[in-house]
Amino acid sequence: APDAPTTSFAPTLEAIRSKLPEKLQNPQIGIICGSGLSGLVDTLREVVIIQYDDIPGFGRSTVPGHKSALALGLLGSGDGLPVVAMLGRFHPYEGHPLSTVVYPVRVMAKLGVKDLLITNAAGSLNPSIPVGTIVVINDHLALPNLTGMNPLLGPQTSPDHPRFLPLSDAYSVALRRLVFLAANKLQIPDSALAEGTYAWVSGPTYETPAEGRFLRTAGADVVGMSTVPEVLAGREEGLNVAVLSLVTNFVVIPERPASIREQVEAELSGTEYILPLQQVVSHEEVLEIGREKAEVMKLLVRKVVDLKLAG
Ligand code: 6GU
Repeated sequence: APDAPTTSFAPTLEAIRSKLPEKLQNPQIGIICGSGLSGLVDTLREVVIIQYDDIPGFGRSTVPGHKSALALGLLGSGDGLPVVAMLGRFHPYEGHPLSTVVYPVRVMAKLGVKDLLITNAAGSLNPSIPVGTIVVINDHLALPNLTGMNPLLGPQTSPDHPRFLPLSDAYSVALRRLVFLAANKLQIPDSALAEGTYAWVSGPTYETPAEGRFLRTAGADVVGMSTVPEVLAGREEGLNVAVLSLVTNFVVIPERPASIREQVEAELSGTEYILPLQQVVSHEEVLEIGREKAEVMKLLVRKVVDLKLAG
């Protein structure tokens, strides 16, 4: 069912602005930090941290390994650009209404943000995209949107928003270009970055092998449980959006499901039969790869900001 629209941004904006010095009042870039990627906060200068608990209208992030605060500060060379970063985000699987999931993005837009950089952890469905790769997202497949769980369902939050938002240009070409330029300047090897399509699923369960095959066949390269709601709200608010997915694991897609019938027939005929190992995904491996690659993600985001400052 559609969520009630959030009608009053004023108390939220007041709670945030009242804690900010003049030079942080109008952040230009918004950043959403995914699993294990909140270390970006260490690269901010003159940082102000505001716990979500202290911001009216914000939910609370409940996922292990996710923080729960907004960080504002200066990022990039020279004087830097004022930015606002979400350390931890809200997922539908935590029980947050979709309107709560996207609320911080709308708040960022009202604070003055023009560009939104989103990071997340994702599973790879594409054999040529190994664990540790950062995937620059160029399109998405949002199964929840196709089945009545679109975050933009319901009364519009502003009469200025288009009722029927086009999504053919959802992922900013200009920002994606900056990401690859930044990678080049940082001498990040070509193989560390890829381009691909993100499939959004609700979670909290990981995919079954059949679901993994389905998403792969449908054209997805990576799959995750976040980001698309924020992309939709960001686009509705008129922001330029870029998404970087860190591949933390492969989605388990066996070539051929184990046949238990064959196993039993082999047992009965006295032949040895080795049951293929059944692999599972763990949240711990997702967090571990996040920690390893967080540094690269941080450098990349900061360099993109530098290129924006230069341009
Ligand atoms: Cl394998 N699936 C989903 N849905 N989300 C993930 C993931 C897999 N790995 C990290 N996030």
